[in-house]
Amino acid sequence: MYELFNIQNKVIVITGGTGVLGASMVEYLAAHGAKVAVLARNQQKGDELVEKVKSQGGEASFYQTDVTSEEVLKKNAEAIIAKYGKIDVLINGAGGNMPGATIPPNSTIFDLKMNDFRTVVDLNLMGTVVPSVVFAQYMVNEKKGNIINVTSASAIRPLTRVCGYGVAKAAVSNFTKYLAGELAIKFGESFRVNALCPGFFITEQNRALLTNPDGTYSDRGNTIIAHTPFKRFGNPEDLLGTLHYLVSDASKFVNGTVAIVDGGFDSFSI
Ligand SMILES: NC(=O)c1ccc[n+]([C@@H]2O[C@H](COP(=O)([O-])OP(=O)(O)OC[C@H]3O[C@@H](n4cnc5c(N)ncnc54)[C@H](O)[C@@H]3O)[C@@H](O)[C@H]2O)c1
Repeated sequence: MYELFNIQNKVIVITGGTGVLGASMVEYLAAHGAKVAVLARNQQKGDELVEKVKSQGGEASFYQTDVTSEEVLKKNAEAIIAKYGKIDVLINGAGGNMPGATIPPNSTIFDLKMNDFRTVVDLNLMGTVVPSVVFAQYMVNEKKGNIINVTSASAIRPLTRVCGYGVAKAAVSNFTKYLAGELAIKFGESFRVNALCPGFFITEQNRALLTNPDGTYSDRGNTIIAHTPFKRFGNPEDLLGTLHYLVSDASKFVNGTVAIVDGGFDSFSI
């Protein structure tokens, strides 16, 4: 009765599962007994991650995907159902940025590359909307489902530079709340949708922005630390407790929230 945090045998799909934050989530969830379907682009990285999980006694499998393609995602979903028989949780972890959608200090909004902006919105927003709709269909067939999106500090208050990324992540936060209402109203309280909002974690997508080639923090890196009460960047493990809570029945009455994990960045001014 009190096994609120038990996630044994839950089938958890995670997009962007081979990324820095995603891979840490995959290993953690599998170590706690979940069966993890890892969706990402790079087959080799995926195979290596699955092998690592299996060598630690966990269960995972890899599916090559493109989170903006409905056709590919439907094939992924069918393959996962064929292997595991159900899908309990979807974590929309895929996301990223590209230079043309950012405005560096020596540029202005008039230098924005519209096609890059579109690509970044497509990856972060449509790359959440499309998998949510595709996998929710299978969840509705099973009469229960749990979707966890990944948003960003840039969604709450715009950050300088990351124009396209912030816009797209703000839309992901809005979509989280929209879908939370939509699924619960139409299909009942066994459906919920929430988001995880990491603060600043040094990963492949932002390393060049936050650190210098010698590994020291860039001016932007130092500014972020100065605005973070904990005075440090996050480590991927810092997200795992909140993720576990959202994945598990411990959060079964939690729907439409954005859980911020940022060392206090969002609540701090001076
Ligand atoms: N690093 C941070 O500080 C930070 C902060 C807030 C939010 N986030 C978000 O967390 C999530 C994970 O980020 P990360 O820092 O681990 O990044 P990462 O670059 O290490 O991983 C990104 C993952 O997304 C996958 N991906 C990219 N495009 C894809 C596509 N079209 N189809 C399928 N997969 C695709 C990549 O293969 C990779 O697995 C992202 O949504 C990111 O925006 C990161």
